[in-house]
Amino acid sequence: MAKRTIPYSMFDHASYGLEAKNARILERVYHKGNKHAWDGKQVLDTLIETHGVPNLDDATKQALGRVFSIIMWGELAAWKISAELADELEPFEAKMAATSQAFDEARHFYVMHDYLNALGYEPEPIHKGAKKLLESVMNADSLAKKLLGMQLMVEPVALTLFHVIKELDVEPVLTALMPYYERDEARHVALGLQYLPALLKRMSVRERLELFAYQFRLLNYEVFTNYYIMRDLDLLNVPPRKLIDTGKAKQFKALEEVFSSFNMSAEIPTMFLDRWADTLTELTMPTRDENWSGRLRRTWDVLRHGLSYDMNVPIVPTITDSETPLIHSTGKSRTPRNRSTAA
Ligand SMILES: [Fe+2]
Ligand SMILES: [Fe+2]
Repeated sequence: MAKRTIPYSMFDHASYGLEAKNARILERVYHKGNKHAWDGKQVLDTLIETHGVPNLDDATKQALGRVFSIIMWGELAAWKISAELADELEPFEAKMAATSQAFDEARHFYVMHDYLNALGYEPEPIHKGAKKLLESVMNADSLAKKLLGMQLMVEPVALTLFHVIKELDVEPVLTALMPYYERDEARHVALGLQYLPALLKRMSVRERLELFAYQFRLLNYEVFTNYYIMRDLDLLNVPPRKLIDTGKAKQFKALEEVFSSFNMSAEIPTMFLDRWADTLTELTMPTRDENWSGRLRRTWDVLRHGLSYDMNVPIVPTITDSETPLIHSTGKSRTPRNRSTAA
């Protein structure tokens, strides 16, 4: 490992390829995180007092427990990665944003653990696809891979799951808890959106190709994770295709925003990845209930023409104060420049 030195240039964001407006948004992520931090113990206790101890029939409890165990370990992965980013990112504003994320993820981890405990579910090891997905992000060998993997590929899918679980009101404590998570996660996606362009700009063609191959691997793991949890989602009345299609639309929009923010032609690789994921999804989770030959015909069709997504889906949700009444904000933000959109 390279010897650590004091990074005197950390305030010169331009020297890292980070534009002033992106740097301001990143700095604001930290201050917003500080202002909107919630007390996990107090929030969970209050929600249990209000809605009662989570009580589900055994089959639903096991299904919900299996799906949210992946979320719990995902929060740990996010915690570890953001702590690494807080250490490794040099520009001051990006370091601030990653530091605040690490603080949020620690809270998400212990609150999810305590929630599963209250539900009476003992987290078990998660299945292979999800394990490979999380471990691939945890072991990513570059900052760009960590940011792309966690902030732009895993978090948008988690955000979609939180939203759907909330809408379906599977369990009232969890329904009321989700907006607290969503509000924090929306800030985390901002770190990827604002900092990845600066990293990509400075990458060689070989590094970009490596990133592309990495993205390809993660996409496969994501599709198979969805496939494995399909039965559990069905039991919870969550349509698996809605989950993956909305998650992919969010990912696609996020990647498009990153690539279009500078002059790099990323359309073709992104289209390729997208088409591949669409095809795998159609094969493993068909939109229609058909026999195998019908399914293969439709898969072939998707391979040639792709799927169309609802591109009106926002990358991150807008969560209001009324949905998170237990956040005791400390008055007005003290950030010097309040011009960004981070939650
Ligand atoms: Fe999180
Ligand atoms: Fe997060």
